[in-house]
Formats: sequence, structure tokens, C-alpha cells
Amino acid sequence: MKTKIICPGSFDPVTLGHIDIITRASKMFDEVVVGVLKNAEKTPCFTTDERICFLKEAVNGLDNVEIVGFDGLLAEYAKDKGITAIVKGLRAVSDFEYEFQQALTNKKLNPNLETVFLTCNSEFTYLSSSMVKQVASLGGDISSFVPECVHDKILERLKNFK
Ligand code: PNS
Repeated sequence: MKTKIICPGSFDPVTLGHIDIITRASKMFDEVVVGVLKNAEKTPCFTTDERICFLKEAVNGLDNVEIVGFDGLLAEYAKDKGITAIVKGLRAVSDFEYEFQQALTNKKLNPNLETVFLTCNSEFTYLSSSMVKQVASLGGDISSFVPECVHDKILERLKNFK
């Protein structure tokens, strides 16, 4: 049986840490869906379409990766699409409580859905989309934080982000 998994997130915007997890997942599983979703606790800076476009450019060349955006519950989407696991990156212990809560909630909503955590590459333990937004809005260099192919577009949009 083919393994189909989802890497969900708000990707506001995509970082090299996200790309590392997606790339590694694409080597471990047959089909990888990257889900650009709404995080009820955050107001995104980029539109869903922008976030999807950046991801599509950044994963260009990974043949088994598909980028989708949807509203609603991740657990329900997984059930509808035959997705058997959620794959997420864990950066540090500080991520754990939040991720653990989500994993248990998703498992309760869809008992067939597992959550698999990949330890993030040590190079990216400090990296987050919020950090990218903060650095760029203050005129800092984000070239080692985001994929090169979308760097200029992200920077242009974040120049005046407050
Ligand atoms: O990158 P983020 O913001 O940490 O990702 C969180 C996200 C978007 C994966 C999470 O908020 C989510 O799954 N949202 C979709 C709605 C949903 O299913 N909520 C209940 C999950 S606990």
C-alpha cells in the first residue's frame, strides 16, 4: 500500500526549516501533501495564495510533493483523502507541548491518523516564520532563512510589515 502523509502548517512564509522537513518526508513516504492551513491563533501576513505559490516554487523538483490549501479540520481532510499520518518538525522542547496537544487532538478526531515528528536539522533549530518576518521588517538579511528562489518576493512583501 502506498503511504500518503501530510505536512501541515501556516507557512507564513515558508522557511528553509520547512523545506528540510518536506524534503526528508518526500524520501520516506510515497506521497506528501503540504497543507497550507489556517492557524486559529495567528493572523497571517501572506494570503493563502501567496503562501501556496512560494511553496510550489520552493519544492519544484520534488515529484511526489503536492501543495494544497484548505479550510476546516486537518483530521477530516486526512480522512477524506486517505492520508494516514501527519509529519511535523520538532525544533526544541519548547515546541513539544503545543505539538503534543495538536497530535492528541487530531488522534481523537481521527483515530486512524498518526503524527510523526522529525527532529529538525540542527542548522534550523532557531528558525521560525515569525523570526523571518521580524528580521525582514527591520531591514535584516533573511537570505539564510528562506529558499533562494522566493527570497526577493518574500523580502519585497515584508519590507513594510509592522
Ligand atoms: O505552522 P503552524 O501555525 O504551527 O501550524 C498549525 C496548523 C495550521 C497545522 C494547525 O493550526 C491546524 O491544523 N489547523 C487546521 C485546523 C485544525 O484542524 N485545527 C485543529 C488541529 S489541533
